[in-house]
Amino acid sequence: MIELKNVCLSYGDKLILKNVSLKVQDNTIKAILGPSGVGKSTILKLMLGLIKPDCGKVFVDGQDITNLKETELYDIRRKMGMVFQGNALFDSLTISQNIGFFLRENLKLPEDQVRKKVQEQINFAGLEGYEDQLPESLSGGMRKRVAIGRAMVFNPRMILFDEPTAGLDPVSSKKILSLISSLRHTSNLGAVIVTHIIDDVFNVADCVAVLYQGEIIFDDVTEKLHDAQHPFIRSILSDKILEL
Ligand SMILES: Nc1ncnc2c1ncn2[C@@H]1O[C@H](COP(=O)(O)OP(=O)(O)OP(=O)(O)O)[C@@H](O)[C@H]1O
Ligand SMILES: [Mg+2]
Repeated sequence: MIELKNVCLSYGDKLILKNVSLKVQDNTIKAILGPSGVGKSTILKLMLGLIKPDCGKVFVDGQDITNLKETELYDIRRKMGMVFQGNALFDSLTISQNIGFFLRENLKLPEDQVRKKVQEQINFAGLEGYEDQLPESLSGGMRKRVAIGRAMVFNPRMILFDEPTAGLDPVSSKKILSLISSLRHTSNLGAVIVTHIIDDVFNVADCVAVLYQGEIIFDDVTEKLHDAQHPFIRSILSDKILEL
């Protein structure tokens, strides 16, 4: 579904990604694990075509998106929902209005269809009773659910999560991870989760790529992470923290 092939990227003279290749299959949960500042969010931006690589190619659904124009990227982005680290909700809109926003403003769907699709996501994300509240009155975990509902409303094939459990307490984290797991089973969706928290990987990911110093040092099914020999992976397995 998504592929980065020999991608390099620098910001100014700072080389962030050195020849990175990775694939994300349909209906699979893939984690991208790495320390802070390594380039995880950058990888999501490349997948969405928000930034272009200096070398290499990005494919989505078999199509080379590397050099597509902004207008040509609209249809590509519709295949991928995005859940931002800070959720990016509209503070002055209610939960229902947040979820329905792009259906009304971008797709200009008739009101009865918007209501139906919003209600489906309210039910899926467990937000019944919160429809008319503003985001500020919700907990961090509930706000994350709203962001997931809003990403789901276009029926994407894949959802991209930037640090889905960052800033959440352990119980809320678990609930969000099980909601992410359920995406695959109930809606046949795939997901990419970028995270610096190794427990996220073991809790939810089928496979994982580890990004370290600009390179992918591991890319396989999650269970095999235990057997990896790279010193960085050994250290995170023993410490269970990535804040190096
Ligand atoms: N637009 C930009 N211009 C210059 N440098 C940038 C830009 N965006 C990101 N960077 C730098 O590139 C590096 C990678 O950034 P990125 O946000 O992808 O890392 P990350 O792995 O998501 O980090 P975090 O764990 O903090 O979210 C960081 O050092 C960051 O400061
Ligand atoms: Mg980031």
